[in-house]
Amino acid sequence: MTAFASDAALSLPAGALEQLRTALGSGGLLTEASDMAPFVTDWRNLFHGRACAVARPATAEACAEALRICAEHKIAVVPQGGNTSMVGGATPDESGRALVLATSRMNRVRAIDPIDQTMTIEAGVTLKAAQDAAKEAGLLLPLSISSEGSAEIGGVLATNAGGNNTVRYGNARELVLGLEVALPDGRKLDLMRRLRKDNTGYALRQIFIGSEGTLGLITAAILQLQPAPRSIEAALCAVESPAAALRLFAAFRSREPSAIQAFEFMSGVSMGLVNTLIPDAKLPLSEPAAAYVLVELASPREGGALRELMEEALGDALENGLVTDAVLAESEAQRGALWKLREEHAEAQKRAGASVKNDVSVPLSAIPEFIERASAACEALIPGVRVAPFGHIGDGNIHFNLVQPEGADGAAFLARDHDIMDAVAGIVRELGGSFSAEHGVGQLKTYMMPDWRGGAELDVMRRIKAAIDPQGLMNPGKVLPAL
Ligand code: MLT
Ligand code: ZN
Repeated sequence: MTAFASDAALSLPAGALEQLRTALGSGGLLTEASDMAPFVTDWRNLFHGRACAVARPATAEACAEALRICAEHKIAVVPQGGNTSMVGGATPDESGRALVLATSRMNRVRAIDPIDQTMTIEAGVTLKAAQDAAKEAGLLLPLSISSEGSAEIGGVLATNAGGNNTVRYGNARELVLGLEVALPDGRKLDLMRRLRKDNTGYALRQIFIGSEGTLGLITAAILQLQPAPRSIEAALCAVESPAAALRLFAAFRSREPSAIQAFEFMSGVSMGLVNTLIPDAKLPLSEPAAAYVLVELASPREGGALRELMEEALGDALENGLVTDAVLAESEAQRGALWKLREEHAEAQKRAGASVKNDVSVPLSAIPEFIERASAACEALIPGVRVAPFGHIGDGNIHFNLVQPEGADGAAFLARDHDIMDAVAGIVRELGGSFSAEHGVGQLKTYMMPDWRGGAELDVMRRIKAAIDPQGLMNPGKVLPAL
């Protein structure tokens, strides 16, 4: 019986297919188009690529060997974790010449050290599984994003994810003590040190964190965990405006700044989509509001002090009109239900139709002006567009997302994405903000880099890329615009 390799496998350079099969073992290399399909389209369905193969190494060694083989045969490599990128950062182009390297089989929590409060973990572990492993050890992995059920540690670090707890614990890069990276030449870069202080040359790990797989492939990390809070309180508040939400943030911060673990804003439009399109996400308030805040407090102390703090803060806010309605979670289940109302916004907007995401950050004080001006600009640009912002207002990151007008043609709406993104970015720039707060650049926003990060900044990025990946094989077309 003659085994016929798939078309995709045929596009692999001679010899590479056998070498990769040997390096990756059975189940480690996909070459049939049907098997590769889930790996060549992004979560938002914006990008549809092709791959010559999908490699699924089970160990860092096999991963490094796969990169060595790709370097030998000049095969481009697209690293992919949970494939939850919002900017097409893990999707190959349509040439069919790139190999997708999926990390999900490198999925061991290698160790948790209760004294150091560190976790040594492989790239393919989902963020949710990592959180659960920390919790089981009585610790907290203080990184939470809406896609944590499928996002994997490697991708979370490669994009320097932020999410809901940045307001208290910082972004992913602040949590990384050690890193293990498969380099484009196939060497394994072992930076796996569990040290809080280590000034021995360049902090190389920080170059790979946030590089979106364009410099190397993160295969493992050592993360700094925190003591698990002994008391947590969460409340959903109805507010009249982003300005009111900001004043509420300031009120909580002035009471007990260290207690705020999350402070999330949701517009009424976006919450309406969640309520309508996500069956088991129902608003526990008497009537719809202009906007909402989900505030979560946490403390290492047990007892009722935190609840008293929350009740006092909410009582004052209701009394002075800062909040028009509020519900305080009475149980873990209710706290989870409040978070579901926050975490389903991306999914609800996806179900509502085509959307243009503007993952921006501005100084906190500029948020009300930003939302007001950007809303007016987009409504003028696309009459009937649904302006549906939400996000991490406590750290200045607003997901200023636009959903196509009801009944409109989605493709025609998406064809205006640059007009929308440029209009919003222009306002962000005037307010001293960033055009990509936590989602990264991917392939969606490379066109913005020369204007935003041009000159010496982009030049140094290109020099670093040329030094570490001289063949330009790592995640081509992402982050850095073509020359
Ligand atoms: C979130 O915070 O839910 C996502 O980063 C926002 C988005 O999907 O636009
Ligand atoms: Zn977010």
